[in-house]
Amino acid sequence: MLEEVVATRYVTPLREGGSLPGIVEADDLGTYVMKFTGAGQGVKTLVAEVICGQLARKLGLRVPELVRMWLDPVIGLSEPDQEVQELLKASGGLNLGMDYLPGSIGFDPLAYRVAPEEAGRIVWFDALINNVDRSWRNPNLLVWHGDVWLIDHGASMIWQHNWPGARASAAKPYNASDHVLVPFGPDVAAAAAELAPLVTEELLDAITAEVPDEWLADEPGFDSADALRRAYLEPLLARAATIHERITFDAPVRTAPAQPPGWLTDHLTPWPHTAGRKDRRDGGANEEKGGGR
Ligand SMILES: Nc1ncnc2c1ncn2[C@@H]1O[C@H](COP(=O)(O)OP(=O)(O)OP(=O)(O)O)[C@@H](O)[C@H]1O
Ligand SMILES: [Mg+2]
Repeated sequence: MLEEVVATRYVTPLREGGSLPGIVEADDLGTYVMKFTGAGQGVKTLVAEVICGQLARKLGLRVPELVRMWLDPVIGLSEPDQEVQELLKASGGLNLGMDYLPGSIGFDPLAYRVAPEEAGRIVWFDALINNVDRSWRNPNLLVWHGDVWLIDHGASMIWQHNWPGARASAAKPYNASDHVLVPFGPDVAAAAAELAPLVTEELLDAITAEVPDEWLADEPGFDSADALRRAYLEPLLARAATIHERITFDAPVRTAPAQPPGWLTDHLTPWPHTAGRKDRRDGGANEEKGGGR
């Protein structure tokens, strides 16, 4: 089960996010990026965040820890921005928190290299969940302590917006042409061989069980939250085995992105402050906490 925390202080909005997520402190002394049920994108984006985020973590990809986060809108009373006030007012109760990675920066394909094996795992995973939000325009990848971390899975599993057509929608190919990691020559075949066998019914059952019941209520055509959980499970289970054969690219895959000119990069050494830090970590990527608990 996702850990549950109570929001204690609204710190600041993250204006670069379309859903206006906020940095929020919680009663466990952690700092989180909070995604709100009252945001215009709707609660389904939070369902996608939980299912896809937890699935990625189980597959060994780096995603900051997710928590259930209780919000009493009263904590926003002193917030001067009316848009934020309204968002908090509309989001009383259970929301989603993601461990905040302090000092992380947005992934830039010109500044960092990703190995074909890692790029393959991420592209394969995005194909599985049909994530259209990992493009070079909006990578939704963070670099933290020299590693790439995945965030923002709210726009994936497009089939959740039309359940009667879900089976047909999930059978469609995944167009990876815009994917930010395509220039790194992602080895999706190796990723599929490694990851597809891990996507079992048992695993998906356990992951869909982590979605709060209240986010699954009132979906037309489903008489219980568990019936809807099953609908989320089926397309992922069906796609896992063969989706790597249905990843399409408009243009041939380059082996590496165009590099910036030497005069721009010669003096740059990414992450000097983290040199050697990797050695001190305990090896479990997802055991890390960013929020300073
Ligand atoms: N766990 C995190 N740690 C640090 N910064 C984060 C984290 N999650 C998100 N951010 C920052 O907040 C921004 C917005 O987050 P996110 O992309 O999840 O929001 P969104 O509303 O879904 O955005 P979008 O407009 O891409 O749909 C990110 O681009 C990133 O800069
Ligand atoms: Mg985003």
